[in-house]
Amino acid sequence: MQKTLVIIKPDAVQRRLVGKIIKRFEDKGLEIIGLKMTVISEELVKEHYSAHVGKDHYEKLVKFMTSGPVVMMALRGKKAIEVTRKLMGSTFGHEANPGTIRGDFAISKRFNLLHGSDSEESAEKEISLFFENGELIQNDQSGLKWIYDLSGNPTDENSF
Ligand code: TYD
Ligand code: MG
Repeated sequence: MQKTLVIIKPDAVQRRLVGKIIKRFEDKGLEIIGLKMTVISEELVKEHYSAHVGKDHYEKLVKFMTSGPVVMMALRGKKAIEVTRKLMGSTFGHEANPGTIRGDFAISKRFNLLHGSDSEESAEKEISLFFENGELIQNDQSGLKWIYDLSGNPTDENSF
């Protein structure tokens, strides 16, 4: 099982899209293990987007991400990082495929509704940046047996 961080950005919150966006991840079978609404500090956004320092869009990105409340969500599931990125669609709204969240609800380049971690390393870093350990839920896993085929060897990454 992988974990990933999703941030529902200020544009999505102001456009009342929070419910619709969360629904897409739940419908797919991903499990919400952390969820909260917050206004991100400039300091944390800068740490989160440190790879973008010096890029043309950096200042505007920081301003946008701190411009209003966001919803932070930690998700868990098989291939959760890749699955989440696929559900989100490609970065720019105008390029994202219909059927994806960005493709269906965004047209802007920067106001693209949500963030999703892009690797296991960044997921781990990002989740610990925005969630305390005690804020993540260890759910009963019995409900997963109709979402995945769990009859195989649990260490076999290709059997689920
Ligand atoms: P990036 O990590 O490349 O995209 P993604 O969100 O799909 O992982 O970029 C982070 C955010 O920076 C992106 O969601 C929107 C913003 N951005 C711009 O505003 N202009 C740009 O040219 C790029 C590449 C990103
Ligand atoms: Mg990114």
